[in-house]
Amino acid sequence: MTNASLPDPSKLPFGQAKFVSLAQRGRAGMEFLGSLQSYVGGTVRQRARADFNADPEGAALAQNWSQRNEPWSERIAKAKAVAERSITYRYDRLMQRYVAEEVYTKGIPATEARRKEAEALYAQPVPKSGGSLDLDPTVPIPKYHSETEWHLMPGGWDGYDLYGITMGSGVGPLVFARGGFAAVEAGDDLRQQRIDVAKQFPKKSYGRVYEPGCGGFGTLAAVHQVFPEAELVGSDLSPHLLCQGHMAAERMGVKVSFKQRDARDTKEPSNSFDGVIMYALQHEMPIDVNMDTLKEALRILKPGGDLVMSDPPPFAAVHPLQAVVLDWDTEHRGEPFFTVTREVEWAKVMKDLGFVNVEAYSLGAQGYPYVVRGSKPE
Ligand SMILES: C[S@@+](CC[C@H](N)C(=O)[O-])C[C@H]1O[C@@H](n2cnc3c(N)ncnc32)[C@H](O)[C@@H]1O
Repeated sequence: MTNASLPDPSKLPFGQAKFVSLAQRGRAGMEFLGSLQSYVGGTVRQRARADFNADPEGAALAQNWSQRNEPWSERIAKAKAVAERSITYRYDRLMQRYVAEEVYTKGIPATEARRKEAEALYAQPVPKSGGSLDLDPTVPIPKYHSETEWHLMPGGWDGYDLYGITMGSGVGPLVFARGGFAAVEAGDDLRQQRIDVAKQFPKKSYGRVYEPGCGGFGTLAAVHQVFPEAELVGSDLSPHLLCQGHMAAERMGVKVSFKQRDARDTKEPSNSFDGVIMYALQHEMPIDVNMDTLKEALRILKPGGDLVMSDPPPFAAVHPLQAVVLDWDTEHRGEPFFTVTREVEWAKVMKDLGFVNVEAYSLGAQGYPYVVRGSKPE
């Protein structure tokens, strides 16, 4: 599907997905997929890692992985060759791809079976909590965004009018929440990870916080939990995700301004935010877009304001098998920028752009969530 299948933003429904329960058959299918993914991403992956370490070439790679004097493409190719000697690793990959495709093969028909209920829900008036939704159809949607089927989602973020239901009632709670895919370890708590990342803001309180590429209300909800006093503004390119986010925030009684904007051009005044948070945004944008987004974040931050950025870890910060796993998503799970963005040392980029007090570190044992944070000079 292409841009032509994007819904008209003015006709997009509002709704919070979890109030529609998907058809039993689809739900059961997704529960199976969630179990399968967490099993392969946990137990099976551990065996694959043992195979990797038992291979003399793998053990040698693991020993000096981050210091090797070779481009990342060569290092990954060597590690991949070792990984693929393990039948366990190959089995893990086969199942990962199967789950990634199958969640939509099952999830979309299960959602369609509930179309009437979904449409009735969307027709309900939005409760008022003081937030706003500013959809701007004049914002240019870059091709990389509209033409990618992210995570193998047919049509991409805006490719199906009921994705809010598919994700919120099915794929999200029954599959993604079990972990075991990409950088997310089996059993990881995605909600808690966002809260842990919000806690990486170094000050005790924040006045105004901005999230470019907010999608819906996931990370801003975490920011609200950690800094209930903060005024929240979130922006994204996807009208569908923004509508879902607005509805969720209003229902939860949290005032958020959602705006359709490109992260490179927020249209916010300079020096107007105390904090900027970017969560799982970097790996969905090409390098040049990332550079411009960082410059824009620096511009809108007040002097002394802080940026907290979290994304999958760079190749340098993980075991070589984990690097191969991250690289795999680029070709096999609709993540075209995973590899190029994992090769970069973002802390250095931020310093070069003028951020100060820049630090990069992992919160989880296998490198995820990975945080890079820094501040605008006083
Ligand atoms: C993986 S989602 C993460 C969403 C959210 N930050 C979260 O924590 O759940 C990546 C988001 O980046 C958005 N995005 C990608 N390129 C963008 C751009 N140039 N400007 C604004 N948003 C963008 C996508 O539409 C998508 O919602």
